[in-house]
Amino acid sequence: MTAAAGKGRTIAPAEGKLGVLLPGMGAVATTFIAGVESIRRGFSKPIGTMSQMGTVRLGKRTDGRSPAIGDFVPLASLEDLVFGGWDVFPDSAYEAAKKAGVLEDRHLEPIKDFMDGIKPWPAVFDPQYVKKLNGPHVKKGKSLRDLADQVSADIAAFKKDNGLDRLVMVWCGSTEVYRQESEVHSTLEKFEKGLDDSDPNILPSMIYAYCAIKEGIPYCNGAPNLSADFPAMVELARKTGSPIGGKDFKTGQTLMKTILAPGFKARLLGMNGWYSTNILGNRDGEVLDDPESFKTKEVSKLGVLEYILQPHLYPELYGDISHVVRINYYPPRGDNKEGWDNIDIFGWMGYPMQIKVDFLCRDSILAAPIVLDLAIFSDLAKRAGMSGIQEWLSFYFKSPQTAAGLYPEHDIFIQLMKLKNTLRHLKGEELITHLGLEYYD
Ligand SMILES: NC(=O)c1ccc[n+]([C@@H]2O[C@H](COP(=O)([O-])OP(=O)(O)OC[C@H]3O[C@@H](n4cnc5c(N)ncnc54)[C@H](O)[C@@H]3O)[C@@H](O)[C@H]2O)c1
Repeated sequence: MTAAAGKGRTIAPAEGKLGVLLPGMGAVATTFIAGVESIRRGFSKPIGTMSQMGTVRLGKRTDGRSPAIGDFVPLASLEDLVFGGWDVFPDSAYEAAKKAGVLEDRHLEPIKDFMDGIKPWPAVFDPQYVKKLNGPHVKKGKSLRDLADQVSADIAAFKKDNGLDRLVMVWCGSTEVYRQESEVHSTLEKFEKGLDDSDPNILPSMIYAYCAIKEGIPYCNGAPNLSADFPAMVELARKTGSPIGGKDFKTGQTLMKTILAPGFKARLLGMNGWYSTNILGNRDGEVLDDPESFKTKEVSKLGVLEYILQPHLYPELYGDISHVVRINYYPPRGDNKEGWDNIDIFGWMGYPMQIKVDFLCRDSILAAPIVLDLAIFSDLAKRAGMSGIQEWLSFYFKSPQTAAGLYPEHDIFIQLMKLKNTLRHLKGEELITHLGLEYYD
């Protein structure tokens, strides 16, 4: 054992039902719910989820110990998940999934009864924060505080009616307009006063986040907008012992970027430019067609290369990169996005080379397993007494939330090591450094 091995943490057992709260029941949320039900009925496999399919190596390579993650740490069982959510449209999860057009009838029809039973509660919504969207299923209130109280009442009723033991919340709502941190976000006291005063810098997603975190419910943000990544919310999370994480599910093009860029960097190949463009035709694409929502997304996507390539350490290789990201709304493609990347790299003696990537992906198919892992792992974090920012869940995000003054790790392989080492740490197992000298001593 090395010094890194320890006693581990006390983790409360995953007994009883786990409620998964989903603000935003569109393409991603309904694909996630349908997938879980389909797996429960034995029709599908949980492909793409670390919590269901991943293993974790323990000890030396020669030890032959690689248990399934679910056998190593106590995770909520899929059988115990219960879903609830809010949306601007009153459609049931079945109707919303039909409209989203991600899943084929052969997958949706056998679980129609179940999906039809999940009806969203009216949303906290204001079209000034999502310009391309407007729907009728919206709460009315005298103040933002009043709206927050209504969300809290929804959560309490959901918990009671379903006999839930624990809850988690994953924001799957549309991308809200770009907002920077301001005074109202700086302390919990100012934020709570802002709720009373209906401060316009408090976005709807922040109200859901506040209601969850106030109750000690883990909160993860799947969209790129400011939501729980500011001091007031971090303060609240520490106070109530709530794990928080975000933001922006890492799927599609950014996933590819954080897989490829660490490879170029590892071989010290230089880079002049990375041009990324997408066509997608789902509602998310339509919302992102608004420049203000796109701005939020663009900021989230652009940071990735800067942090992976570290131009300040390698100015000759990465000091002058042209990084461009475009998203084009193109209805015929629906949820089946196509992302093109042109990467201009250079090698020995400066000779230029090009790499082209054409990823015909399915946005919600890539996002759904992330929602499941975030729900399962943030519940684990809660039961293990981990509160505040969960850096080990960076693996799932385009813009990982970190402590103030700390740069995020974007390299997916570092993120994976961080995730698995955190699991080892929780159980007091030796951390794996990949040093490997012990096999030759
Ligand atoms: N699919 C991916 O690969 C991916 C990756 C990263 C991030 N995201 C983000 O995840 C989110 C969901 O994506 P999607 O494809 O499901 O989009 P979607 O448009 O199909 O679903 C979003 C849903 O949120 C609802 N909504 C908007 N504001 C709301 C509010 N205030 N309260 C309750 N409901 C609200 C909308 O009515 C809609 O039904 C988006 O923000 C998207 O940018 C998706």
